[in-house]
Amino acid sequence: MFSFDSTKYLGVLKRNEYLIIRNGCTKNFLTKLDSLLSKILEGDNVKTFSLIPDQEEMEVALKVFSDLSGDKELTISRHHLMHYRPGMTSNPHKDRKSLQYGCAIGVDSPEDSKLLLWPDGNLDENTGNHYRDYIDSLGGVDKVNDLVSQTKPQEIFTGKGDLVFFPASKMFHCRKNPLGSSVYYLDVNSYGLNDREASMQERRV
Ligand SMILES: [Fe+2]
Repeated sequence: MFSFDSTKYLGVLKRNEYLIIRNGCTKNFLTKLDSLLSKILEGDNVKTFSLIPDQEEMEVALKVFSDLSGDKELTISRHHLMHYRPGMTSNPHKDRKSLQYGCAIGVDSPEDSKLLLWPDGNLDENTGNHYRDYIDSLGGVDKVNDLVSQTKPQEIFTGKGDLVFFPASKMFHCRKNPLGSSVYYLDVNSYGLNDREASMQERRV
């Protein structure tokens, strides 16, 4: 699952910081992700883009998230491959509360496709159960755009096996030039929330 020493980064997520680990995903897990992506690209009738880590991988993932967040009781709330197809867009947002801590694992990415994070922007939590809830609470997309325009985003290339951990319900994020990129998202929370069945692919064209 993950192949780096998370004890070197204790509490980064608790402090609302992000963390990039280049090439931090195990070969085994990447092979599984590649295989799922191939099925999707071949047009197989993949109902969900879900990939649940096996028990050993899950234990490693929870230990890592626990080190980074300082939280002991964590619930997995998302485990799916996001493959950006024509028509899919990505605008600045904060994820729902159940996706409190996120890890983006790069699977495949065109050079100009980047994950954008706003670490110096507003870090209030989205307490809703949909990303739109936070946008609505601010008063609409224009308000969000005003807010994110006040600070500079980090532009992060997610190459194969690269990991980006970030506080997804608090930090604004989106993907620049998303078309053709594939990113696996594993998310957890400390609230005991698992509010989507089987981590269905939520963003259809
Ligand atoms: Fe998101």
